[in-house]
Amino acid sequence: MKALVYHGPKKVSIDSVPDAKIEKQTDVIIKLTTTNICGSDLHMYEGRTDVEKGKILGHENLGEVVEVGKAVDSVKKGMKVVLPFNIGCGFCANCERGLTGYCLTCSDPSVMPGMAGAAYGFAGMGPYSGGQAEYLRVPYADFNCLKLPEDATAKEKDYVMLSDIFPTGWHSTRLADLKPGESILIYGAGPVGLMAALSAKIQGASQIFVVDHKADRLTLAKKLGATPIDSSNDNVSEQIRELTNGLGADCGAECIGYQCHNSKGKEVPNMVMNALVDAVKATGTLGVVGVFIPHDPKADDPLEKKGQIAFDFGKFWFKGQKMGTGQCNVKAYNRRLMDLIHHGKANPSIIISHELPLSQAPEAYKHFDNRDDGWTKVILHPHAA
Ligand SMILES: NC(=O)c1ccc[n+]([C@@H]2O[C@H](COP(=O)([O-])OP(=O)(O)OC[C@H]3O[C@@H](n4cnc5c(N)ncnc54)[C@H](O)[C@@H]3O)[C@@H](O)[C@H]2O)c1
Ligand SMILES: [Zn+2]
Ligand SMILES: [Zn+2]
Repeated sequence: MKALVYHGPKKVSIDSVPDAKIEKQTDVIIKLTTTNICGSDLHMYEGRTDVEKGKILGHENLGEVVEVGKAVDSVKKGMKVVLPFNIGCGFCANCERGLTGYCLTCSDPSVMPGMAGAAYGFAGMGPYSGGQAEYLRVPYADFNCLKLPEDATAKEKDYVMLSDIFPTGWHSTRLADLKPGESILIYGAGPVGLMAALSAKIQGASQIFVVDHKADRLTLAKKLGATPIDSSNDNVSEQIRELTNGLGADCGAECIGYQCHNSKGKEVPNMVMNALVDAVKATGTLGVVGVFIPHDPKADDPLEKKGQIAFDFGKFWFKGQKMGTGQCNVKAYNRRLMDLIHHGKANPSIIISHELPLSQAPEAYKHFDNRDDGWTKVILHPHAA
């Protein structure tokens, strides 16, 4: 089959690789009809993780079931399913509690002591191949497949966002403990930040501020009902305080991660975390879904090399703030978010800028990685002509 393979920093290509196959009788094989490129793929693409050469990338996957292991009960050939980017077993102590981003069965304990969590095509998240390919092996298929309703094909571009960014945007608002009527400050107008804005709107936020320095992405934030704030011109914290009776936003969402940078493009790994502490009110909560990693040898910043940032902990403590972090437990949300899409209450596909065949994925990586104007979210169709 054809798949997008990582060969080193900024080197990916479409290669012929062995077909995905059933390895355990609890697996199914999916023929991918849509698979996305994610901001998380870019950390690997840029060589800023220890993902191994030869890895097939892609963790935002939707497709049709074409082969079913003998021990699978509820998933049948021909069903259209969307897969959480996390791979869970369903029976470990974490999956049991809905923390499927931290599965103890599927994770790779050699990554670091106490490691939990697995994903398709991802650095440090187990040996699983990604779905930027024609076919994908899905472990523990009964648990991981979300079966789509009869409008699966008609709304495929919305449903594919259930694999990651819509639940992840939602997760940031839940970690931030957003309540109806509250204001939220979202840092980052990439796909995740935009999905956080959509989620905040659905949950009844009174004010949604989205900060970025990319004008095209801020325009989308505005379309989603948020107040766009350009981080390159203004003092964001002062602006936020002016709009919130001097107090600061009720809560905040970090949707950028360790590669956050100033408007000149220089990475300053602590700038957004500290900006949130500054602009969120005393007692407010921060939801941090942007990725931070335990070591980053290629970083310029000496602390970041060790996976650390100079965090304004004094201000954070003094303001009595709280914080939630980490991978989104997609299964905790995806069924209900699917119902929002099905009943016309959510349209996450609004952020898609490019719909391409898999053969054009290497070119798409280049543009998306440059954050070229208008390249907000790329979806790929592996079986398109
Ligand atoms: N926790 C999870 O489960 C999970 C899931 C998916 C993605 N992620 C992570 O979320 C983050 C965002 O993903 P994405 O797909 O939206 O990525 P993205 O890179 O497309 O978007 C990031 C945005 O942040 C902006 N930005 C960078 N520095 C900034 C600054 N200092 N101030 C304001 N804006 C700034 C960029 O211009 C860009 O628009 C990534 O780190 C990704 O790995 C986490
Ligand atoms: Zn993703
Ligand atoms: Zn598990």
